[in-house]
Amino acid sequence: MAYYETARAPGRHFLQIPGPTNVPDRVLRAIDNPTMDHRGPAFGAMAKEILTNLRQVFKTSGPVVIYPASGTGAWEAALTNTLSPGDAVLMCRTGWFATLWQEMAERLQLKPEFIDTDWRRGADVPAIGEALARDTAHRIKSVCVVHNETSTGCTSRIAEVRAAIDAANHPALLMVDTISSLASIDYRHDEWRVDVTVAGSQKGLMLPPGLSFNAISRRALEAAKSAKMPRSYWDWRPMLAANETGYFPYTPGTNLLYGLDAAAKMLLEEGLDNVFARHDRHAEATRRAVRAWGLDLQCAEPRHYSSALTAVRTPDGHSADGLRAVILEKYNMSLGNGLGKLKDRVFRIGHLGDFSDLQLVGTLGGIEMGLRAAGVPHQRGGAQAAIDYLSGNA
Ligand SMILES: Cc1ncc(COP(=O)(O)O)c(C=O)c1O
Repeated sequence: MAYYETARAPGRHFLQIPGPTNVPDRVLRAIDNPTMDHRGPAFGAMAKEILTNLRQVFKTSGPVVIYPASGTGAWEAALTNTLSPGDAVLMCRTGWFATLWQEMAERLQLKPEFIDTDWRRGADVPAIGEALARDTAHRIKSVCVVHNETSTGCTSRIAEVRAAIDAANHPALLMVDTISSLASIDYRHDEWRVDVTVAGSQKGLMLPPGLSFNAISRRALEAAKSAKMPRSYWDWRPMLAANETGYFPYTPGTNLLYGLDAAAKMLLEEGLDNVFARHDRHAEATRRAVRAWGLDLQCAEPRHYSSALTAVRTPDGHSADGLRAVILEKYNMSLGNGLGKLKDRVFRIGHLGDFSDLQLVGTLGGIEMGLRAAGVPHQRGGAQAAIDYLSGNA
């Protein structure tokens, strides 16, 4: 039975996982248009406008390519376009998604070197600097960092990573996964001299899953000329050539692009700084709620708090998945599960994308009711603490 044929639950489902996020009606209406000829004149004009607007979102004057793929595809594109089999890559294992990227690198016959964390903070910048300083032979060809680790709610400080690479005077490329940060947390592809930024449609960009992105620096384009990794579908070259006139080397995700057109315009109308401030505010209100409940944040380093999601640890002996199941059943709200070693230990509150004060109050109210219904020890008043903060009475 399709999900929309199941028993009716009144009101709207609260999709508070940290992506896919709630898709705004304006984007849904844009997607709900007849599919057009992707080789016709109207398509080319639309795609050119989208590609121009996207540059503003990535804060780059360089090219951005769009794949009809999930974020994982854009990870692969970043690696295969710039590197050669056997190349060493320095990867920061900040959580589940960083681990998956590293496993992909291994499958692609790269040689990842790891810098581990305890999954309670972002990338260890001094350790990156030390690893690069030790690498006097410049074996390391790329530093790969997940900007916002969606499994932990910890955000790495990319400007500091760039400064560490510069301080070591090391030529490695910098690749950053912004799948759960782009258009939610301040990000600057050009200013931070990132070489490949990886992104996906289903989080801050407020779209359904199905599109992913690479923003590409001049150095990355240069590296692509000598990169020996086999690549075909992900190859930037035919994509960039076709994009010149607003077209694609294969069939693009036409209706998702209608949605992207609408979403990019919405973000620019709101203003990126306002978008980031809104996310910062909702994240702070959420943390206040968590503290008032007497629960622990997974992120233990305040400088690395994520503005896109908050991962919350349940007290020992209390199942985070059990709590999530109660909240889904009783209040029709989905929260993110714990991934990898955090399975059943944390629940993740997504507060990114198309999201308002009232939606946050509803989300936190649902969690507070769920904590009570599931018998998870906590103090009352978390939702109230968030209301006090949001209404300026904290
Ligand atoms: C930070 C991060 N990287 C990579 C991925 C993988 O992206 P996808 O599931 O779209 O392939 C995700 C998915 O949630 C993510 O949050």
